[in-house]
Amino acid sequence: MQYYLFYILMMISILCKKGRNLYMPQQIKKSPVIGCEIRLVVNGDEYKLRIQSDWTLQYVLHDKLGLTGTKALCSEGACGACTVIVNGRPILSCVTLAIECDSRNVETIEASPGLITLLSKPT
Ligand code: FES
Repeated sequence: MQYYLFYILMMISILCKKGRNLYMPQQIKKSPVIGCEIRLVVNGDEYKLRIQSDWTLQYVLHDKLGLTGTKALCSEGACGACTVIVNGRPILSCVTLAIECDSRNVETIEASPGLITLLSKPT
């Protein structure tokens, strides 16, 4: 009985991985990457940026604005290391497109050192 259950779980795992490999690249290829201009207020400073539509907020903050406190560890929304505050709400910047944050206020760890304490408190 245990072997049967183990076999079913293995098959589900293999099918899920195959499905991800087969379908994800096709979905990504369909969405065209376009350049656009956004305005961000980051830690009180206003930026007008020319970005690609598929850039994440974490990439823009870390690589384009040099705010290296915003780390990407898993890059899939699982660990929370990339958390920033957007308009007063915590979000995972690795799974948020920068274009979604156009004209919004962003606070990173550089502006709020207490962010880690705030986010680690149980709700
Ligand atoms: S890097 Fe892990 S949740 Fe964003």
